[in-house]
Amino acid sequence: MAKQVCTAADIPQARYRAFAEHELTAGLAQDIANDLGLPAFVKPANMGSSIGVSKASTIGELRDAIDLALSYDEMIVVEEAVVGKEIEVAVLGNTDPKAATPGEIVPGDEFYSYEDKYLSSGSYAVIPAPIGEAALSEAKELAIATFRALRCDGLARVDFFWEDPSTEINGRPGRGFLLNEVNTMPGFTPISMFPKMWIADGVSYPEIIDRLVELAFERHGRRRHNTAH
Ligand SMILES: Nc1ncnc2c1ncn2[C@@H]1O[C@H](COP(=O)(O)OP(=O)(O)O)[C@@H](O)[C@H]1O
Ligand SMILES: [Mg+2]
Repeated sequence: MAKQVCTAADIPQARYRAFAEHELTAGLAQDIANDLGLPAFVKPANMGSSIGVSKASTIGELRDAIDLALSYDEMIVVEEAVVGKEIEVAVLGNTDPKAATPGEIVPGDEFYSYEDKYLSSGSYAVIPAPIGEAALSEAKELAIATFRALRCDGLARVDFFWEDPSTEINGRPGRGFLLNEVNTMPGFTPISMFPKMWIADGVSYPEIIDRLVELAFERHGRRRHNTAH
């Protein structure tokens, strides 16, 4: 549903197919492979921490990946595999959201897997992301546009892929930013990107927490006001 809303809001995204378990037919894996190409990424629609996410390089792997994703959710998403940097943007605010300077996640694994996120120390973050000032500003603008399109409130971490337009990828110029996903309750562990990116911009951890509490009160106030009428 988020992808449909973002399409309507002109937020660029990777090509994808989404379907429910009851729509699965014998020829579907082949049809998706023809449509999106391989490798493709398969994910449960409602999950996180890379649980149930696979990169499938053959039809057999695609079928297994669909089965795995369907064991976590009845709705799944298959996407073309994007070759690019992973850029994350921390957004804070209600009606006037602000974005912190974007960071890059460099996975230690073939992709940013569960193991990579929580168990090994293979991945690392680079803040600011090394993509140049213009692209950093564009990422912030796109993150805020996405936040507004999905009617987020308080906080979100908006994650993109960055295909550098000045390089050739699969025989065509890079497409720039493609939205990967919006995390409406981003991680808050000591290694998590949301607080790290604000801290890099000079907003301390206690200040982030104060701001979140203020925003929650502000939103609550707005809703009480509305229902009073
Ligand atoms: N279409 C894609 N192309 C390339 N890599 C992808 C794609 N989709 C997901 N990935 C990789 O898988 C990771 C987890 O996928 P993501 O959609 O962010 O799920 P989660 O909600 O579990 O974080 C991403 O951080 C990225 O490394
Ligand atoms: Mg993610």
